Amino acid sequence: MLVTNENRLQEGETVRMMWSLLFMSLIIVSNTQNLIKVEKTSQSSTFTYGSVTYSSERAVVGNWAQCTDTNARNNSWWSADLLGLYEIYNIMIYIINQSNIKMEGAQIVIGNSSEKTISTSNLCKTITNFTLNKNNTFQCDGGSMWGRYVTIYLQTRILILCEVQIYGIRKGLMLIPENRTWLDSLIYCRDHNMDLAYIHDNETQA
Ligand SMILES: *[C@@H]1O[C@H](CO)[C@@H](O)[C@H](O)[C@H]1NC(C)=O
Ligand SMILES: *[C@@H]1O[C@H](CO)[C@@H](O)[C@H](O)[C@H]1NC(C)=O
Ligand SMILES: *[C@@H]1O[C@H](CO)[C@@H](O)[C@H](O)[C@H]1NC(C)=O
Ligand SMILES: *[C@@H]1O[C@H](CO)[C@@H](O)[C@H](O)[C@H]1NC(C)=O
Ligand SMILES: *[C@@H]1O[C@H](CO)[C@@H](O)[C@H](O)[C@H]1NC(C)=O
Ligand SMILES: *[C@@H]1O[C@H](CO)[C@@H](O)[C@H](O)[C@H]1NC(C)=O
Ligand SMILES: *[C@@H]1O[C@H](CO)[C@@H](O)[C@H](O)[C@H]1NC(C)=O
Repeated sequence: MLVTNENRLQEGETVRMMWSLLFMSLIIVSNTQNLIKVEKTSQSSTFTYGSVTYSSERAVVGNWAQCTDTNARNNSWWSADLLGLYEIYNIMIYIINQSNIKMEGAQIVIGNSSEKTISTSNLCKTITNFTLNKNNTFQCDGGSMWGRYVTIYLQTRILILCEVQIYGIRKGLMLIPENRTWLDSLIYCRDHNMDLAYIHDNETQA
């Protein structure tokens, strides 16, 4: 078939329109995935007082008046397992004004393994300025960072956190830590606008 210039132009318009539609839907997806829903947390130790257990998930349940609290006076950490790889843009930390809280010197680390070591490749930010009773938003020194685990270390004090919000976009695979049949897994993934992955090598599996 002979393609005239006029036809080419129309095809060009159609392609442009499809691109702009695709672009718009990408923006919508990004926005809805911005605040990461954190379902798995842990901390170095847990303080209890009377009937209250100051457990790690209290920092992510959306109740800004309830805080986490570690027991030991040094080498404290709190960690979120995002169960997937995310590009992380911001980390917001809120702590109620209580006596003896000092976050200066705390380190935010973003990594791919739950191993608790700090290195130049996983250090996101060392906190130098923190205001209590306020939303403190931090960005990694090098801009966004990719990883599965977000950990906050405080080497010299008890670590108290009242709310932690992590903002980012999911990349690649997401782990659902539940035992299901292959069919149930497939249905679950499709119900959540994802697909079930086949994993071919041990590196991806890890
Ligand atoms: C942590 O504290 C304990 C006792 O309070 C002390 O013996 C230990 O040396 C401290 N460790 C570090 C790394 O500061
Ligand atoms: C985690 O893995 C991703 C993908 O392999 C990589 O791009 C990223 O840099 C890693 N993050 C860290 C902190 O090493
Ligand atoms: C610390 O942060 C507060 C606001 O959160 C700001 O007003 C102040 O200038 C900052 N101080 C330094 C030394 O950066
Ligand atoms: C925190 O509380 C102390 C003592 O109650 C007070 O002096 C200080 O101004 C408070 N700081 C903030 C940021 O509210
Ligand atoms: C912190 O941010 C939340 C929204 O994420 C907002 O509802 C709250 O009022 C803010 N708190 C302060 C003290 O700015
Ligand atoms: C899934 O099943 C395996 C083997 O029975 C078990 O070891 C594992 O703890 C289970 N995981 C969950 C999240 O229930
Ligand atoms: C992957 O890991 C399993 C169990 O650790 C091992 O048996 C298998 O040989 C490994 N496969 C490859 C290709 O390394």
